[in-house]
Amino acid sequence: MKLKSQINDVIKEAFIKAGIEHSPLSVTEATKPEFGDFQFNGAMALSKKLSKNPREIAQLILDNLDLTQMLTKAEIAGPGFINLWLNPLWIAAECKESLLDERLGVEVCANPLKVVVDYSGPNMAKQMHVGHLRSTIIGDTLANLLTFLGDEVIRQNHIGDWGTQFGMLIAYLEETGKDASVSLKDLEQFYKDAKACFDEDVLFSDKARAYVVKIQSGDKHCLQLWEKFIDISLGHCEEVYEKLDVQLTRDDVRAESFYNDDLPKVVEDLHNAGKLTQSEGAQCVFLEDDEIPVIVQKGDGGYLYATTDLAALRYRAQVLDAKRISYVVDARQAGHFKQVFKVAKEAGFVPEDVKLEHIAFGTMMDKGGKPFKTRDGGTVKLIDLLDEAVVKAKETINNKEDYSEEAIETLAKIIGIGAVKYADLSINRESNYIFNWDKMLSFEGNTSLYLQYAYARIQSIFRKHDSEVCGDIIIGDDVEHRLATMLLRFDDVLKRAAVDASPNQITTYLYELGTLFMRFYEQNPILKIGVDEKMKMSRLQLADLTAKTIKQGLEILGIKVVDKL
Ligand code: ARG
Repeated sequence: MKLKSQINDVIKEAFIKAGIEHSPLSVTEATKPEFGDFQFNGAMALSKKLSKNPREIAQLILDNLDLTQMLTKAEIAGPGFINLWLNPLWIAAECKESLLDERLGVEVCANPLKVVVDYSGPNMAKQMHVGHLRSTIIGDTLANLLTFLGDEVIRQNHIGDWGTQFGMLIAYLEETGKDASVSLKDLEQFYKDAKACFDEDVLFSDKARAYVVKIQSGDKHCLQLWEKFIDISLGHCEEVYEKLDVQLTRDDVRAESFYNDDLPKVVEDLHNAGKLTQSEGAQCVFLEDDEIPVIVQKGDGGYLYATTDLAALRYRAQVLDAKRISYVVDARQAGHFKQVFKVAKEAGFVPEDVKLEHIAFGTMMDKGGKPFKTRDGGTVKLIDLLDEAVVKAKETINNKEDYSEEAIETLAKIIGIGAVKYADLSINRESNYIFNWDKMLSFEGNTSLYLQYAYARIQSIFRKHDSEVCGDIIIGDDVEHRLATMLLRFDDVLKRAAVDASPNQITTYLYELGTLFMRFYEQNPILKIGVDEKMKMSRLQLADLTAKTIKQGLEILGIKVVDKL
């Protein structure tokens, strides 16, 4: 049920009947109820080409517009807009159809693609911190969304598991003579202590460097320690994924080290493609309009972050055969991605028709607008933040006397984690994001709790009404008309959000839907005595479709609903 394209089709027909050639058409949602449901503003653009005034063109289209089925009324407005009203009977029938469809009328996309979504990407040397939160949440949503729309999604967790810091950690393990599994329990502390030794003790730092060489040359003992270290470290991340309820598993890990063997080949192929220039001992690719070159190999032979990303790009395009590759990474890496994308295409690592995109997001800030830190200035550990979310959620719902302890715990998890995710997803991802507990855990405003509450409210209606729901949907008044139209927009909203990789288009939609439902529910009683049986059945179905849409929308965002709140 692609609402807009269906309206476009009706207009297209009018163009054909009027004998006017049309370019791609696109209607927009009307901004005010008095402008109808949708608005067409294509007449203005045609004015020059047809040397007619736009209102005249609009009149021509209007004269040929079919107002007997989907549309019921059309009016010319302003300089040449056409305001369009949907036919309530048509809306009602479409809603009924959506309700009977388990995909709620959302069609699988016509040209499904193989898509790689690169997200989370924590570095193994440290515990995950809030900086990785946004990538994990936004990336998981994007992957869920594309999967729902029918794309074949390959999740890739490009973890940082290679580099000098690992020599340092191994040296520290050896030094302290401790068992790896014990000392890595508190990874953050372990890393800090190792780093302190590295910075202060020359003997130690020499030793650490020697270990790096050993790991790189494949020394068995060192590799074993390194593997163990990664294993434990990744275990910490998985704890976070589990709490966060995201879909990443170990199978999705394609660590930086996965590409190690390919790095010399990347450099060689760049050389053969005539892309390399030696500069101050390093191998570089100079790009047009860019002063800073991409360094792919240092003077000492070491490879860099960009080299690994070039190898990963090639692997994703050529081995995984992806047609869209989306990197959900901090906006501060925009320069890096712009460069590697360009090099990969110019060197022929990635075919021209593959879409490469950096899904950038802003920094997480505290209430005062400063980068998010603990009280003593340290980075906030993700796991602590998520635990705090659950504690705070419990405070919000603590007056539930009829709930068991266990039920409250489950509920608090759903609400707390949902709030953290929703708050992040509901802002324009490129803006910096102000983290605010009170706002995200509020029942009012554009929050997950507001939607979970709306959902639960509808479920409570169905607990009171437990007999069969049947009959037609009837659009009785303006608010029902608007609610039903909003429900039919779900497909369009998801498709747009997928193209733009913008989860906040989904949250904005869900919030508008929730608000409309609340208004509908206030104005139009459902189970009250005296309500006409047919209207009752119709309203129950509109409520049901609203609940299902909220549930499906939140599910794409990785957020659960509850039946009672
Ligand atoms: N580990 C990187 C970081 O924390 C993120 C990795 C993103 N993915 C990529 N293919 N570069 O900055």
